[in-house]
Amino acid sequence: MKALVLAGGSGTRLRPITHTSAKQLVPVANKPVLFYGLEAIAEAGITDVGIIVGRTAPEIRAAVADGSALGLTVTYLPQEAPLGLAHAVLTAQDFLGDDDFVMYLGDNLILDGIAPLVDKFRTDRPDADILLTRVANPQAFGVAELDETGRVVGLAEKPTSPKSDLALVGVYLFTPAIHAAVRAITPSARGELEITDAIRWLIDHGFTVRPTTITGYWKDAGNVADMLEVNRWVLEQTKPAVHGTVHADCELTGPVRIEPGAEVRGSRIMGPAVIGAGTRIHRSRIGPFTSIADHVTVEDSDIEYSIVLAGSSITGVRHIEASLIGRNVKITPTAPRPTAAHRLILGDHSEVQIPS
Ligand code: G1P
Repeated sequence: MKALVLAGGSGTRLRPITHTSAKQLVPVANKPVLFYGLEAIAEAGITDVGIIVGRTAPEIRAAVADGSALGLTVTYLPQEAPLGLAHAVLTAQDFLGDDDFVMYLGDNLILDGIAPLVDKFRTDRPDADILLTRVANPQAFGVAELDETGRVVGLAEKPTSPKSDLALVGVYLFTPAIHAAVRAITPSARGELEITDAIRWLIDHGFTVRPTTITGYWKDAGNVADMLEVNRWVLEQTKPAVHGTVHADCELTGPVRIEPGAEVRGSRIMGPAVIGAGTRIHRSRIGPFTSIADHVTVEDSDIEYSIVLAGSSITGVRHIEASLIGRNVKITPTAPRPTAAHRLILGDHSEVQIPS
């Protein structure tokens, strides 16, 4: 069995972070979202992985390389343009050959991994297995309709009036039957070859499509609020570990992971929290539910329920909360004057909330 991982796409919904970074590389608890998927694939005993790449190919290649660090053998499959998930299967045809495969969308995260799902598929071998989960906003997903016996009777891509709240999760298990389906369908209204249409083609042509409902699912397409929530969710599983230097004048509570080369002095870290490699935390309070990436400096500041990406520095800022701070950002206080002005240099699509 092989895996096909989709890491093209541009991630407009996570701007400004995705102006400069592939959406699949946005970190959750200091690890790119894509790596959770690749690890889940490795854990399911699959080693032969094709990664579909687009405009952000150089960045994905730099992060994943040949996959050996994850125990995988990775083949990069450039897709000429983001023409849909079924088009990605067409692009990967030679790589996939006659093998069964799991298709994994690189912006999806499944908390409990996929090993039991892959095992069950290997044993029962329906023509396809689709994963479903209940969501509050089915309009933003592919949506499945089941009959009273639990069989899939309808599938629609981002319907305006969804027939259920069961969304298609971005992980699909296929036998080679899918290849005829992706060749048979035509582009949707948004001009893409939809995998949802290909699966509906399988159903209409008498193939078995088994639905499996799961929990513990997240997709990065939401917004910053969703990202902070999934960061919290993943951080809750943090195993405490101190690999860096924590001076005696510090207090660590709850699960806290401190990466090698990090230095914490005169500070209080409330877990769950992770502090990245080479990061300096001085005279500050961090957490809970906070991920600070590598080579960040936090001094005389206070950050809670937030994500700070690599290379940023935050100095003398009391109480930052529910924030997503990009790479190489500098936050400093203004001089303490009664009418101090806010000075802001923000990239396109940034959002700030400041006292008026
Ligand atoms: C794609 C699929 C959709 C599925 C979703 C899961 O949507 O087309 O059916 O529910 O992935 O992530 P898109 O990523 O294009 O929004």
